[in-house]
Amino acid sequence: MTTVLGIESSCDETAAAVVRGDAAAGRGQILSNVVFDQMDLHAAYGGVVPEIAARAHAEKLDVAVAQALEEASVSLRDVDAIAVTVGPGLIGGLVAGIACAQGLSLGSGLPLVAVNHLEGHALTPRLTDGLAYPYPMLLVSGGHCLFLIVRGPGQHERIGTTIDDAPGEAFDKVAKLLDLGFPGGPRVETVAKDGDPARFALPRPLMDRPGCDVSFSGLKTAVRVVRDDLVAGGGMTDRDIADLCAGFQAATRDVLVGKSRRAMAHFRAVFPDAGPAGFAIAGGVAANGTLRAGLETLAQDEGFEAVFPPLELCTDNGAMIAWAGLERFAAGLTGDLVPKPRFPVATNPLTGVWTGKRGAKV
Ligand code: KG4
Ligand code: ZN
Repeated sequence: MTTVLGIESSCDETAAAVVRGDAAAGRGQILSNVVFDQMDLHAAYGGVVPEIAARAHAEKLDVAVAQALEEASVSLRDVDAIAVTVGPGLIGGLVAGIACAQGLSLGSGLPLVAVNHLEGHALTPRLTDGLAYPYPMLLVSGGHCLFLIVRGPGQHERIGTTIDDAPGEAFDKVAKLLDLGFPGGPRVETVAKDGDPARFALPRPLMDRPGCDVSFSGLKTAVRVVRDDLVAGGGMTDRDIADLCAGFQAATRDVLVGKSRRAMAHFRAVFPDAGPAGFAIAGGVAANGTLRAGLETLAQDEGFEAVFPPLELCTDNGAMIAWAGLERFAAGLTGDLVPKPRFPVATNPLTGVWTGKRGAKV
């Protein structure tokens, strides 16, 4: 058994956790999982402010680590390695997390393991459900939308990604457009419950193209156009807002379910002998009930088991970093302790418009 302390501070959660397990068995035990969110600090701005996030991480990291060790009833002497997120993410938070891990390592002599935040999300279904390699997955969060085939630590094939906004980002922007507050995803979902998803005709971007790439920027713009028309026509009623939220949520679900169907077909083509397989879904948007229901039905139809880690492990946390660190440590992949705001998780290269000006984002 290996015990790893994991540290996460790449966005707006300051998190530390202790996980114990056996990488070969592919399932771990979470001894503690401490998460401090910064929601109150960023709410007034309608989004994460990097400078505020970095300062809050610097103030809270040592508290999170001390609490994680205490709740796990272990000391650093019981720990085998310290894992820390080195990217992708906001540079200030990454630097704070790495400095914290390095300080702990200097004092204790423990080895450090550099973890890609997205690999943390990608390996969580092993920690929670013992999912065996290889498996296809959809990672949907505020910053990412990735279809991956996960084959092992450091072995992730990207089969689709967003060419513009991430779904969570689109939920947040739609919430802002409709004045629903922050964080947008849960607010849009709540308001959509009373809405008619069919009232407004919204696009399902890129569904007419082959492959698993997605786009959400046009959908967000379509929501804005409807809103502007309603406002110009005399203002929006609660019913209008509910219908628009329901329509947007249904369009997002349709795109992600449609592309997930292709990801499953791709997986079957590459691994025809894989037998019963899990299809994993992780990231903050996996909390969305409409999306979950759509993906569960799809998985049943296609002969996959839909694996959703528990919500608190879908959103950013330290346990996923500790587990990915544990698997990497066992494989001898300790990595480079350098902060990387852009850090592709996949091993296959991105091409064309997907790379952006400064290289691949994820
Ligand atoms: O994975 P996460 O906690 O953070 C990263 O982006 O890494 O995901 C946060 C995102 C936010 O954009 C939030 O609005 C979205 O997940 N989200 C949701 C729901 N809960 C959170 N989106 C739709 N429906 C939800 N219920
Ligand atoms: Zn995340």
